[in-house]
Amino acid sequence: MAGLEIQGIKKGFGQQQILRGIDLSIADGEFVVFVGPSGCGKSTLLRTICGLENSDEGAVLIGGKDMTDVAPAARGIAMVFQSYALYPHMTVYDNMAFALKLAGLPQDEIHSKVTQAAAILRIEPLLQRKPKELSGGQRQRVAIGRAIVRQPQVFLFDEPLSNLDAALRVQMRIELKNLHRTLRSTMIYVTHDQVEAMTLADRIVVLRGGVVEQVGAPLDLYQRPANLFVAGFLGSPAMNFVGGTVEQLAPAMMSVRLAGGALVQVVLRAGLAVGDRITLGVRAEHMALEAADGDGIAVTVLAAELLGDASYVYLTLDGGATQFIARTDPEVRWQNGQLAVVRVDPVRWHMFDSDGLAI
Ligand SMILES: Nc1ncnc2c1ncn2[C@@H]1O[C@H](COP(=O)(O)OP(=O)(O)OP(=O)(O)O)[C@@H](O)[C@H]1O
Ligand SMILES: [Mg+2]
Repeated sequence: MAGLEIQGIKKGFGQQQILRGIDLSIADGEFVVFVGPSGCGKSTLLRTICGLENSDEGAVLIGGKDMTDVAPAARGIAMVFQSYALYPHMTVYDNMAFALKLAGLPQDEIHSKVTQAAAILRIEPLLQRKPKELSGGQRQRVAIGRAIVRQPQVFLFDEPLSNLDAALRVQMRIELKNLHRTLRSTMIYVTHDQVEAMTLADRIVVLRGGVVEQVGAPLDLYQRPANLFVAGFLGSPAMNFVGGTVEQLAPAMMSVRLAGGALVQVVLRAGLAVGDRITLGVRAEHMALEAADGDGIAVTVLAAELLGDASYVYLTLDGGATQFIARTDPEVRWQNGQLAVVRVDPVRWHMFDSDGLAI
């Protein structure tokens, strides 16, 4: 097993710069999840780590060893893709044994590795089937099994569960977590699924445009995003934002005048002065929506989505220039066009300066 150092990785295709200097230190046995918008370079970074792409600058170290001149097959890495890429004419057993046969391992050693991996993944009864005789989840398990038998130092997963239905994803997510606990290997995992990122990761890496925006434990990123981008990217529904101007500073609190005219109280942050323009952010679950008029931010209900365990209520303020989404009690019904007020606990507001950095 081994940790991983990614040092100043830059990579372009033609004129287009894709990775713009990535530095990351991943500990031995850590589970790290990459998230970021489509096209930000997640797969390119994985392919660079395993050697399928060469970087233009920088180096990847595995277990302290520079991999620049090491062939992909010799890096001790196994990659699992979204498309399972199984050999259709081979049985499950042969699919899993293939790389070991190529490496010239003796039959009995191959047999013990394949049966061991099959036991971990609970696919022993399927070993003699062909891929077309398997469900999507079973195929994905075979693809993971094929990686396990190679006993890699590092596993790379590129959206491995995105072809599965919701129930199977949940099951496979828990199995992956257990697999990590059993194998204790270093794992890097790319996903678009917020829940997978939050639940699987020891640390999440948020990427945008080939740059690392923030790295940290899932709850740290959720509760203390470093900038507007991370704040808006993590969490579903996304954080609500509204512009404001600092109007009054007091010892512990300050008053901020929001676009649209409402005055809200927020916890004082150092370094702000009266008149400063800031962006305020608040999560959907931290907004109290009430029909009564009175104190609070005046809003108009645009639409409500009933989800069963909660409702998402779409609100407008500032004459429609700003939209909020509130997560509310599903028992309370809202009518389109209804007037209401939003109240937010002063400690729940996030604040960002004009460069988008958290204050
Ligand atoms: N071989 C290639 N030649 C040219 N451009 C490429 C190549 N591979 C990737 N790109 C471009 O590099 C950018 C990053 O692609 P990449 O596949 O790394 O994104 P991603 O973050 O994995 O996105 P997604 O979430 O959609 O999978 C994209 O603009 C893509 O078009
Ligand atoms: Mg990708």
